[in-house]
Amino acid sequence: MSDPRAWILVGMMGVGKSTTGQHMARLTGREHLDTDRMLVRKLGRPIPQLFQLYGESTFRDHESTLLREIETGPRVISTGGGIVLREQNWDEMRRLGITLYLDAPFDVLVARLAASRKRRPLLQGEGMEAKVEQILEARLPLYRQADLIVPIGDLNAEAAAQLALRALGVEV
Ligand code: S3P
Repeated sequence: MSDPRAWILVGMMGVGKSTTGQHMARLTGREHLDTDRMLVRKLGRPIPQLFQLYGESTFRDHESTLLREIETGPRVISTGGGIVLREQNWDEMRRLGITLYLDAPFDVLVARLAASRKRRPLLQGEGMEAKVEQILEARLPLYRQADLIVPIGDLNAEAAAQLALRALGVEV
């Protein structure tokens, strides 16, 4: 019987959690969920507007509520980079399944974020690189709480998905 637990991707902004999750879902026939997209759909505004309207703390409340509402099942779940910040979210992620930390080097993250068209409220303004460094340093111990650490280097999303599946022991 196939594993009924969800596979939950955590990691920094820009690491490719959404696209890697899409590839993992496609390769295994699983459903793909994306907590940022679900929040946008549920609350009816793009992420930067949600931050502006509610502030970070209330945005995190909505994120936690959404996570709590996800039912168990064999899905792939891509999360927002800050989901690791609240201890209760770890309880929910453990309830849902196996957490995987997509771990890319700092330089790769910065290059991807610089090239990305997605607006990220925590990285607005001058000194993006310093902000990424600060956030990464603060969050590393949290990301490393994941069940599996997947060192993706500068692999593209499809290759990262293959590596993540291998870490899970899943043959495709
Ligand atoms: C955030 C990451 C974003 C989004 C929000 C906050 C974070 O998602 O949830 O801007 O705190 O790291 P991505 O990781 O998909 O960029």
